[in-house]
Amino acid sequence: MKWNAELYDNKHAFVSQYGESVLELLDVKPGERILDLGCGTGDLAKQIQEHGAEVIGIDASPEMIAKAKAKFPELDFSVANAASFSFDEPFDAVFTNAVLHWIHDADGVIKSVYNALKPGGRFVGEFGGKGNNQLMLAAASTVLRNHGYIKGDITIPWYFPSTADYATKLEAGGFRVTFTLHFDRPTLLQDGREGIAKWFNMFGSALFQQIPATELQQILNEITDLLQPTNEIDGQWYADYKRLRFVAVKEI
Ligand code: BEZ
Repeated sequence: MKWNAELYDNKHAFVSQYGESVLELLDVKPGERILDLGCGTGDLAKQIQEHGAEVIGIDASPEMIAKAKAKFPELDFSVANAASFSFDEPFDAVFTNAVLHWIHDADGVIKSVYNALKPGGRFVGEFGGKGNNQLMLAAASTVLRNHGYIKGDITIPWYFPSTADYATKLEAGGFRVTFTLHFDRPTLLQDGREGIAKWFNMFGSALFQQIPATELQQILNEITDLLQPTNEIDGQWYADYKRLRFVAVKEI
């Protein structure tokens, strides 16, 4: 997927803003060496550095890394694949926010993180959990079915595991899970009603690949109409996020 780093920073800043509370869970100590896995345009990596750590940010998107380097030239950013990266010098912690739902090779991620950590090192993160965007995706299924584009439900292109599924993978990968939480986090969208279409355009374009551009706006409008009773609250529109948060420690 090709990212629009400008739009991501301007209209979807909630991604890194919500990540600030995951940073509290990371509990950075001065002098630590920390990897930001899927650093996007670098805002959280910068905050990690401001807590006194040495930070390296990696992301699969060259567009995001170019923007991160332009914003924070003093930091170390590079393009890398989260499921198959390696570093010579080990880290005290690996941090990741709003990224792991893009990567189906969860075992590859866990293996790479394990190999990159010191013994006792922490893997701390948050991403979309089971049921994430359930209402939005159900509305998309209904409208695409009504227009004859699909028969059943859309195939979700993301990885949204349950707590049990992800903790099992972490344990199999050599980690001890010391904390995990699967919670509802309604996420306020900018631009009112338009926010739903903008969210799908930014994150869900894979769902509409076979739709002609001339029909897309109508489809997005119908999806928004269906969501009005559940996703509009007091005039504000929300994405129905469910997040999975975890802390896991590399077993010695
Ligand atoms: C999320 O951050 O929860 C998310 C992002 C893109 C697609 C689906 C979910």
